[in-house]
Amino acid sequence: MKMKDKLLVPAVVAIILIVGFTDSGQTPAPKPIGVNLNGKMVTFSKEDGISFFCPYFSAQSTVSPNSGVSVCLRYITDYQRTESPSLFTLSPSTTPLKVDVLHMNLYNLSRDTYSSQVLKPSIRFLSSGSETDIWTGVCLTVDSSRNLVQVFSRLDMSIRKFLPYPYVWSGEPVIDFSGFDGHLTDVQVWDRPLRYSEVYSYMTLSSYWSSIGSVLTWSNISYSIRGKTLLEDSYKWFDNIVYG
Ligand SMILES: *[C@@H]1O[C@H](CO)[C@@H](O)[C@H](O)[C@H]1NC(C)=O
Ligand SMILES: *[C@@H]1O[C@H](CO)[C@@H](O)[C@H](O)[C@H]1NC(C)=O
Repeated sequence: MKMKDKLLVPAVVAIILIVGFTDSGQTPAPKPIGVNLNGKMVTFSKEDGISFFCPYFSAQSTVSPNSGVSVCLRYITDYQRTESPSLFTLSPSTTPLKVDVLHMNLYNLSRDTYSSQVLKPSIRFLSSGSETDIWTGVCLTVDSSRNLVQVFSRLDMSIRKFLPYPYVWSGEPVIDFSGFDGHLTDVQVWDRPLRYSEVYSYMTLSSYWSSIGSVLTWSNISYSIRGKTLLEDSYKWFDNIVYG
């Protein structure tokens, strides 16, 4: 091999790597710095959106296929205008898991058009706490080893349901929001199904912004905004929350 060819090969490889990394569908190119969004909320409309991703993600990080994934977040939406808002899509460019709110408190999880499961959080699991809360706290847990999913919303939980097809999460630490008019805060993602005590603690009023997701956490996160999406101070008017 001539000297010129030896230099050309790494250059071509580098170009392929750069193009492959920045141009992967909806996944934005990682920025080096994570920001702390505690105390902040996102305001957006269903025409616009925002993607959150882990600033420190490396393609080499491995995920145990037998564990699972959990997502917790708080949102406020206007159901009159958006009848079936799409809440979020996890890992949009590798193993998309889409969660829609069909109508008040009915959650549709879909991997694609042929594989979906509807969950209704209607079983009281918290005695009190968030009745006066203007936010709807939601946690989704996926147990890949048993193929079970469960949704928690405010004080209620759904039953645990089997997914029609196995969902093995890729580990892509990206979550995209674009389906509803409203506000969003405190997004946390874990690479395992959460325990009940952890969901309980997330749903408790006093624990705003105190849960720390192992994969994505509101206190150290990167984002990419589309359209008129705004980041602003969160609503603060309810009594029992201690803001740090
Ligand atoms: C849930 O979402 C899937 C995929 O979009 C769709 O095919 C299915 O009809 C939805 N289920 C309900 C009950 O709306
Ligand atoms: C954010 O997370 C990264 C990786 O875990 C860490 O190196 C960094 O110090 C964190 N930043 C803050 C402000 O905690």
